[in-house]
Amino acid sequence: MEWLRSIILPLQGSEYAGEVDTFYMFLVWFSLFFFVLVAAIAVYSVIKFRHKPGDVTPHWTHNNLLETVWTVIPLLLLLVIFFWGLKGYMKAEVAPGDATEIQVTAKKWVWQFEYPDGNRAINEVHVVVNKPVKFILSSEDVLHDFFVPDMRVKHDIIPDRYVQVWFTPTVPGKHHIECAEYCGRGHSDMAATLYVDDEAAYEKWLETGGVDPNMPLDKLGAMLYQSKGCSSCHSLDGSVGQGPSWKGVFGHNVQLENGQTVLADENYIHESILVPGAKVVKGFDNIMPVFQGVLRDREVNALVAYIKTLK
Ligand code: CUA
Repeated sequence: MEWLRSIILPLQGSEYAGEVDTFYMFLVWFSLFFFVLVAAIAVYSVIKFRHKPGDVTPHWTHNNLLETVWTVIPLLLLLVIFFWGLKGYMKAEVAPGDATEIQVTAKKWVWQFEYPDGNRAINEVHVVVNKPVKFILSSEDVLHDFFVPDMRVKHDIIPDRYVQVWFTPTVPGKHHIECAEYCGRGHSDMAATLYVDDEAAYEKWLETGGVDPNMPLDKLGAMLYQSKGCSSCHSLDGSVGQGPSWKGVFGHNVQLENGQTVLADENYIHESILVPGAKVVKGFDNIMPVFQGVLRDREVNALVAYIKTLK
């Protein structure tokens, strides 16, 4: 039966995934069994009892035995499914007390992760293998949905409310996180990567953010443009998105919403990344997340350096 599971379900990345899959595959085989049974009886009956000349349809009002059987057996089967599902649901809802807590903020169209030590990251999150981790989810704007297929966890995120998911990752490496609730134009870009690290790699990441300290600034900036979610609002080719394009902005005057004009120099770019509401470009709403305390200094410098290259 394992072959079918491996075709229709993703990798099992957590302890919980195995339990979910066992139940899921039970439902698949259960449904298949009754589909074949009912279809076979229907086909048999159509052939066996088809109308022949001279047939008179007998007059049946009811059959106590038959009706009891087709009520009680499905009831028992559905109760098994209900309690099996409830057990899994309860397990998914209640995290163990020693789970690492990570705050997740969903916002059009990025995922922000905040660690207990204040470390923050956009669109990437690192956790330790074989240690339970709990994600506390909230949204700053609309409905989103935190979905980690490999871990078999998925939860709607509702504005102004905290919800949570937890799991114990068992498979080191990269796993996909996606938004599973349509949340606007950038919905399909709203993806993040879950890295399941060993203890040493995790500590190292907390220190360095996983970036090679020797990478040239503009290269690093180009990488961050993708990984920090800038690309979902800012184009590189001059086309207007949710935010102004980055093409040719550096060194030119920018019209602001309040009627003023500023020169887009290093200070302006720096400020617009850290505090996007400070100087809003004419024609745009300020929907950008605040990156103050999210990006490391070198990362901000890298983005400035990258924007400079976009002539
Ligand atoms: Cu957020 Cu779809």
